[in-house]
Amino acid sequence: MTQDATDIKPDHACMKLTILGATGSIGANTIDVMRRHSDRFSAYALVGHQNVEKMRELVKMVQPEKVIMTDPAAAMALKGTLPKGVVLESGMDAAVEAAAESSVDMVMAAMVGSAGLPAALAAVRAGKRVGLANKECLVTAGRIFMQAASTSGAEVVPVDSEHAAVHQALTGHDKESVTKIILTASGGPFRDRDPKTLKNVTPEEAIAHPNWNMGAKISVDSATMMNKALELIEARWLFNMPAEKLSAIIHPQSIVHAMVEYRDGSILAQMAEPDMRSPIVYAMHSESRLESGIPWLDLAKTGSLTFQAVDDERFPAMRLVQDVMKGEDSLSITLNAANEVANRAFRERRIGFMQIVQVVESVLGQVKNLPVDTLDEVWSYDRDARYLAEEVMITC
Ligand SMILES: NC(=O)c1ccc[n+]([C@@H]2O[C@H](COP(=O)([O-])OP(=O)(O)OC[C@H]3O[C@@H](n4cnc5c(N)ncnc54)[C@H](OP(=O)(O)O)[C@@H]3O)[C@@H](O)[C@H]2O)c1
Repeated sequence: MTQDATDIKPDHACMKLTILGATGSIGANTIDVMRRHSDRFSAYALVGHQNVEKMRELVKMVQPEKVIMTDPAAAMALKGTLPKGVVLESGMDAAVEAAAESSVDMVMAAMVGSAGLPAALAAVRAGKRVGLANKECLVTAGRIFMQAASTSGAEVVPVDSEHAAVHQALTGHDKESVTKIILTASGGPFRDRDPKTLKNVTPEEAIAHPNWNMGAKISVDSATMMNKALELIEARWLFNMPAEKLSAIIHPQSIVHAMVEYRDGSILAQMAEPDMRSPIVYAMHSESRLESGIPWLDLAKTGSLTFQAVDDERFPAMRLVQDVMKGEDSLSITLNAANEVANRAFRERRIGFMQIVQVVESVLGQVKNLPVDTLDEVWSYDRDARYLAEEVMITC
């Protein structure tokens, strides 16, 4: 008897996803991976904010059950234009519901900024596998987030390339024997530029990252190295490591994504071409590795891999984060919120490039150093920091 192709069932279950921040750069890469493995992944909900055109494109690619635009005006603009059967909803509450929906196996948390926290936390509380791209979740509410994961049994898998690399280098090893976690940093577009000329750089120059193609906010964060500062705080929560064991090193080629040093003197590194589909596919299916579509790494062609220490004068954010990591949660919430405000002000040409970190430092000098246990407290420190940052910018 011959078997019809439609009778052949895959020998693995299909994983249903909600993608928070589907219209962004991580969202698009997640959808690329899903399309490569359409027998393994399907979309429950695609969640965007304002980008209506992008959402229309994505819906055609993965046919989700639901589309949510957190901005009601964007949802209005989509009304009547989606394929039959796709449910359209709006607002952050709908995103939170889609993250906790019982039929969803995995949530990709890829909204940008602290706006992404409520929906990602809902996914964690519902015990989902959570691919965590939104680093602000851990920077602002690391204690709350990781405690919720431990209570619900949610698996939080990092989607940052550096943290995915650490996750891989730690797997199968005793955490007690780790002496250092070293995140690599490309150094961004200004790693070799004379620090004295940095005050005149434009948003366009700052956004043009040499190795990665990313959203505007994170690209500016890469140029100031605030991105690495946020990643160090993220690593502290993700891997439950003290500040003294966390460090960063500049590696211009972005081939080695992170290293873990063990007490026997061995260092384990993870290498791959810089392409976010690598950590995304790992987060989606680390059990057995899947083809990701990234180019093969040809080390003979790469030739040399170089490393250099981070220069605090050029990158004052890296000096700042050392104090923040040694302090309490109120400081990291403040660092993140003040940076969001200053980063945006720079992109809007309201302040200069070097003023971004100056604004953050000035705001940090005005807040109390206290632990934070509730989301209300998170929002309170976040609000105060944003207000103070705007005030500082008026006077600077
Ligand atoms: N891109 C990378 O290579 C990379 C690497 C590591 C980590 N990450 C992290 O991943 C997250 C996403 O980065 P990205 O580069 O993908 O950013 P992005 O391209 O700017 O996309 C951001 C996404 O968040 C949505 N969004 C923006 N404001 C929102 C709001 N107020 N409420 C709800 N949703 C909102 C956007 O929706 P609309 O576009 O529809 O308005 C979009 O879907 C960030 O936390 C970033 O730090 C990114």
